[in-house]
Amino acid sequence: MGKFFLFLLLVIIISFTNSQCCHHQQEFDKTNKILQQKILTFLATLQPGVCSNIILNKTQTNLFSPNLIGRFLPQGTFNASIQAFEYLYGIFCDIEGLLQRSNTVQSTELRQITFDQNKYICGLEIILNLAPNNLSLTCFAFVAFDRDNMICGYDAQVRNNGLTFNDPPETNVPLIEEVCQAVQEICEGSNQQYSSLEVCINFMTNQIPFGTYDQGDQNSVVCRTIHIKLASISPDIHCRHVGKTGGGACTNKTSQSYYQDDNFMKCAHKRNEA
Ligand SMILES: *[C@@H]1O[C@H](CO)[C@@H](O)[C@H](O)[C@H]1NC(C)=O
Ligand SMILES: *[C@@H]1O[C@H](CO)[C@@H](O)[C@H](O)[C@H]1NC(C)=O
Ligand SMILES: *[C@@H]1O[C@H](CO)[C@@H](O)[C@H](O)[C@H]1NC(C)=O
Ligand SMILES: *[C@@H]1O[C@H](CO)[C@@H](O)[C@H](O)[C@H]1NC(C)=O
Repeated sequence: MGKFFLFLLLVIIISFTNSQCCHHQQEFDKTNKILQQKILTFLATLQPGVCSNIILNKTQTNLFSPNLIGRFLPQGTFNASIQAFEYLYGIFCDIEGLLQRSNTVQSTELRQITFDQNKYICGLEIILNLAPNNLSLTCFAFVAFDRDNMICGYDAQVRNNGLTFNDPPETNVPLIEEVCQAVQEICEGSNQQYSSLEVCINFMTNQIPFGTYDQGDQNSVVCRTIHIKLASISPDIHCRHVGKTGGGACTNKTSQSYYQDDNFMKCAHKRNEA
């Protein structure tokens, strides 16, 4: 009799620990499937024609937390939700009626995806294929999700940004002219930055370095070429970034400043928490 109860107890203990293990594993797998689907849906929204409808608010996505923050280095840090959102769609997407992009996403490939054991965080390697020059561009990213599986933070880095996008120096003069024409057109009224096209060209040519795409968020012309694309979507936010002060975005930063506000994953939901 005693032996029987001991046996029964053993069976109960084993099946209990088993069910704990497998329940956790099942939860883990189930959540990861949802997170992976979010990432795939996000990548699908980068396609031409789809991305522009999202940035123009014609299509709603169920992907982002209203508290989204992120950074995409070496291009920029976006600590306000609207900026973090715009960046994802504003740079490599052709938007009707707005400044033409020099590179646009044609297709995307999710090379790697891994999942954090304790939080709703995944690690990604994504390859974007960009038109018109058939460029491959790799982005390494960590993405955080909130309890509702909405993307709430991203911390991304591009491989060889400078080598990929730096143009030969002889194109600097025409590029500055192009940027300044766009600045004067887009940043008007209360968003005006330069009193004339000439003042803008003179500032960009003589007052700041041209810069490189390896340091896209410094006080340079290159940074302003990025932000004028965003200014064409939201002049109120981005016109000051293309102006003389750089408005905090196109401002010199030290290598160490990136460690001061680097917790873009803090919004991640903890697994096994209600
Ligand atoms: C899209 O909607 C957001 C939030 O309502 C708003 O801040 C933004 O200005 C809108 N963008 C455009 C291009 O209308
Ligand atoms: C584009 O680049 C990819 C990868 O480098 C290559 O496999 C493909 O053939 C290229 N396509 C064209 C149209 O050149
Ligand atoms: C991010 O926020 C901090 C403080 O909230 C601010 O000092 C900084 O300029 C912001 N960075 C950008 C790029 O807007
Ligand atoms: C920003 O840094 C560059 C060097 O990368 C330097 O030439 C420039 O003078 C600096 N600008 C300001 C406003 O500090």
